[in-house]
Amino acid sequence: MEIKNICVIGAGVMGSGIAQLAATHGYHVNLVDVNEEILEKAKVTMDKNLNRFFVAKDKITNEDAQNILSRIQLFTNRDKAIKDAHIVIEAVYEDMALKQQLLSDLDKKCHKEVILATNTSSLSVTDMALNSKNQERIVGIHFFNPAPVMKLIELIKGKNTSKEILERAKKFSESLNKTIVTVNDSPGFITTRLIYVLCNEAINMKQEGIASTEDIDTAVKLAFNFPMGPLELSDLVGNDIYLHIGEYLSEKLGQYYQPSSLLVEMVKDNQIGRKTKKGFYNY
Ligand SMILES: NC(=O)c1ccc[n+]([C@@H]2O[C@H](COP(=O)([O-])OP(=O)(O)OC[C@H]3O[C@@H](n4cnc5c(N)ncnc54)[C@H](O)[C@@H]3O)[C@@H](O)[C@H]2O)c1
Repeated sequence: MEIKNICVIGAGVMGSGIAQLAATHGYHVNLVDVNEEILEKAKVTMDKNLNRFFVAKDKITNEDAQNILSRIQLFTNRDKAIKDAHIVIEAVYEDMALKQQLLSDLDKKCHKEVILATNTSSLSVTDMALNSKNQERIVGIHFFNPAPVMKLIELIKGKNTSKEILERAKKFSESLNKTIVTVNDSPGFITTRLIYVLCNEAINMKQEGIASTEDIDTAVKLAFNFPMGPLELSDLVGNDIYLHIGEYLSEKLGQYYQPSSLLVEMVKDNQIGRKTKKGFYNY
C-alpha cells in the first residue's frame, strides 16, 4: 500500500506540526481534533509557522504555503477522517489509557494494511498496543518540536511491531526528509530518557545550592555547546511534563529516575515554567 493520505489525530502543538510537515512533502492530510475551535487555531498556527520558518526565510513562496495548507483538511469526525488514510498518526495527550483506547478503535476500523503510529514521547509502544488485535501494525514515530523544522525522527519498534511495518514507517519518515534512528521499545526511548536525566540532575544541583540557575544553564550551554540550558529547557517544555516523565521512568526503570523533590514542590506550587510565567525563571 503506497502512502499518499495521512490522518493525524490531535491538532495541538505536535499534531499541527506533523500535519504541516506531511503536507509540505506532498501528502494529503486529514487533521482531527475534538472541536472546530481547536482545529481553526491549528490552521492559524500552521499558516503562521509556514510564514515564519519558510516564507520569511525564502525557502518557499507564499503560493507554496497556500498549496501546502490546501492539502490539509480539518475534521471533528474521526471515522470520516480515517476513511482513506494509509497511515494514521496519533498525537493526543500523553495518557496511556487514552492512547490505548484510541489505537484499539483505529485497529478495529482501519484496513489491515494501514500503519498505526503513535507520537508518544515516553510511553511504552508495546503497552499502548495491548488492547489492539493487530499489534504488529502499531509503531512509534516520535517527532520533535517544531516537527517541520527538527531533523530527527525516533522510530520505536514495539515488541510486536512487524519488520514490514517498521520498514514502511521508516520509508515514510525518510520521505519527510528526516534522519531516522531506530529504538527498541523502552520507557523514554533514547531522547526523552537522556534529556530528562540531564534536566533532573540540574534541578538536583539547584536544590543542593551548588550554583545559581543562571550559572547551571550557562555552564551546560558553553561547556557542551548546547543551545539551551537544562533549567530554561525544563521551563520551556513544562516542569509538569518533566515531573510526569520522571514518575513514569522511575516506575518503569527504577529509583535512579526519581524526580527531584524540588521539581515536585515547584509543580505543586504551579511553577510550571513559561506556561504559568513562573518556573526556574520569571517570564
Ligand atoms: N510538545 C512536545 O514538545 C512534544 C514533542 C514530542 C512528542 N510529544 C507528544 O505528542 C503528543 C501530543 O503532545 P502535544 O504537545 O501536541 O499536546 P497538545 O496538548 O498540544 O495537543 C493534544 C491535542 O489532542 C487533542 N485530543 C485529545 N484527545 C483527543 C481525541 N480523543 N481525539 C482527537 N483529539 C484529541 C486535544 O484536544 C489537543 O488539541 C503527546 O503524546 C506528547 O508526549 C510532544
